[in-house]
Amino acid sequence: MPTTPVLPGLTVVSHPLVQHKLSLLRDQATPTKIFKELVDEIAMLMAYEATADLPLAEVTVDTPLESTTGKRVSGKKLTLVPILRAGLGMVEGILRLVPAARVGHIGLYRDHDTLEPVDYYFKVPADAAERDFFLLDPMLATGGSAASAVNSLKRAGATRIKFLCIVAAPEGVRRLREAHPDVPIIAAALDRELNANGYILPGLGDAGDRLFGTR
Ligand code: PRP
Ligand code: URA
Repeated sequence: MPTTPVLPGLTVVSHPLVQHKLSLLRDQATPTKIFKELVDEIAMLMAYEATADLPLAEVTVDTPLESTTGKRVSGKKLTLVPILRAGLGMVEGILRLVPAARVGHIGLYRDHDTLEPVDYYFKVPADAAERDFFLLDPMLATGGSAASAVNSLKRAGATRIKFLCIVAAPEGVRRLREAHPDVPIIAAALDRELNANGYILPGLGDAGDRLFGTR
């Protein structure tokens, strides 16, 4: 899958289908139903890239004709962790590719005045130290939410974490990178900047509101 290393720690998935769907997602005329489908599809395509280094183990397979060797993904099951709310939109698409994945949840919202994250929920599998985690949120803006979510995952014992977002701002990439240089960031786009209200430009607006029709 075509990818572009853009900033240290950031990989942009430049596959034509991802870029095509992203343009539809940005369009303010795209209705909620289609927006949800696009987030789902983009997440699935991004997961193809994010899973490229999953460890494999050799297995024996009996075909109808003979025994042969094949590969299976090894180790503890991958864990998807959406940051509520908007991260929820990325879960189902990835589960279609990796149906055995576990799903944790982190509840966070951005305080409207300070733009700092406020956390309200945390649940991941108990054996976090032995699992690979994909932390999911369509938007990486100031980076406060992502950095706080990674802190929570690490407190729970996680050591192998990737952050998957659809649109990243340079400010967010820098903040997450400074706080957690060990966490690779995979995005569909690196946008220009944040506005005074902490929204990504050109961005796609409020991802949670567009996903759930709450504007
Ligand atoms: C949005 C988005 C991220 C966060 C990004 O959520 O889904 O979680 O903002 O901003 P940051 O990088 O500056 O922290 P929001 O706080 O609007 O909550 P919601 O999903 O519940 O609407
Ligand atoms: N959260 C969003 O949903 N959109 C932005 O542009 C920034 C933060």
